[in-house]
Amino acid sequence: MGKDVIIACDFASKEETLAFLDKFSGRKPYVKIGMELFYAEGPSVVREIKARGHRIFLDLKLHDIPNTVKKSMAVLSRLDVDMCNLHAAGTIPMMQAAIEGLTSPDGTRPLLIAVTQLTSTDQAHLERDLLIEKSVDEVVMHYAENAKIAGLDGVVCSPLEAGKVHSACGSAFLTVTPGVRFADSAVGDQKRIATPADAKKLGSDYIVVGRPITAAADPVAAYERCVAEFMD
Ligand code: C5P
Repeated sequence: MGKDVIIACDFASKEETLAFLDKFSGRKPYVKIGMELFYAEGPSVVREIKARGHRIFLDLKLHDIPNTVKKSMAVLSRLDVDMCNLHAAGTIPMMQAAIEGLTSPDGTRPLLIAVTQLTSTDQAHLERDLLIEKSVDEVVMHYAENAKIAGLDGVVCSPLEAGKVHSACGSAFLTVTPGVRFADSAVGDQKRIATPADAKKLGSDYIVVGRPITAAADPVAAYERCVAEFMD
């Protein structure tokens, strides 16, 4: 299962996103649509990109009571996306409800992955704001194991954590990893980074790449470079 490059289409409008995807002419990269674009354009942007033949990771990070998440996931499932996500902090019953909501009457469903702790949350935030005294690492691994128990397909994590997640949750449990940079490209605000080639060696199943592709002078060449490093 897996092994693909997902382009984070962090654009503010449908026009910008479609103009970007038009550059790929024959190719149909896997794309991630996040909150910014979804809240700006609504579900129609998902339908339109899907109709163009792209696979879609809808990154809306649901977190609410189980009943609300179940019903919301049922709506997202009807958009025919390929992957979606939620916050593992919503607990195992919420994650189980999400799977129920996502699953179509024929038993099929999109992949469902969990965000463990956001990478913007550091040890001080855990302790001071959330009153969690364990280390970030322990919390991340515990949430990954909860996601596995709930029946999810994997987690979002750093490529640097992919090996540990696979050891704890099994090699079939997917690691979807942002924080990818070419050896010679700008790091920007990402902290724990790996190149596409490193991510492959570390066992990432999918890499999520935004600015190294979207802000490149030649985005198609940058995408091809990611594919070559990660998948060939
Ligand atoms: O531009 P860049 O390659 O940094 O984009 C990475 C994408 O992955 C962004 O859409 C970002 O929101 C997302 N992401 C992340 N780190 C996480 C979770 C999601 O960078 N822990």
